[in-house]
Amino acid sequence: MEMNAKRIVLFASGSGSNAECIIRHFSKHPMVEVVCVLTNRLDAPVLERCNRLNMSAFYFNRHAFFHSDAVLRQLDGLSPDLIVLAGFLWKIPEMIIHRFSGKIINIHPALLPKYGGKGMYGNHVHEAVKQSGDPETGITIHFVDAFYDQGAIIEQIKTDVTPGESVAAIAERVHALEYDHFPRVIEKVLFGEK
Ligand code: GRF
Repeated sequence: MEMNAKRIVLFASGSGSNAECIIRHFSKHPMVEVVCVLTNRLDAPVLERCNRLNMSAFYFNRHAFFHSDAVLRQLDGLSPDLIVLAGFLWKIPEMIIHRFSGKIINIHPALLPKYGGKGMYGNHVHEAVKQSGDPETGITIHFVDAFYDQGAIIEQIKTDVTPGESVAAIAERVHALEYDHFPRVIEKVLFGEK
């Protein structure tokens, strides 16, 4: 790894399939290193994935995150160039947003500003898309600010929703879009447009 390789820290609290995709993508990249995964759930399957991939992982609890500077110190020690939220549900405290301003991005499984905000995650999102009869959905990759799902949009990728399609089918297609595009967009944020 180059001395001045860009450092990514991932936050994930669920399955971690995006985290795995990102870790695999950059494992062969000479200028990008995923240094560690942070999670707020001890039972998150993402931890299993980290074990399998020989990726460092740390757990923090609610107190460490919201009522102490423990996670901020941890991040300071890791010196990330970019913090990537890949299925992380807690709101990022302002202390962390200020310290890493413009260096935190998130992926949302819909076309924001639609279907965003608190409680809009996982199948709740795809359920809402289906109920609305919207003919399209997709993914949004955006910067994180102090408000849920409202930071500046970096990129959106769309996919059609066919009438009568199941929530599971929508979810699967959106996930596939995430795997196809998230690593590329991360590179774009780190290095600019190619
Ligand atoms: C993804 O759909 C992402 O858009 C959202 O959370 C989900 C995480 O899935 N923020 P996984 O844990 O990466 O499988």
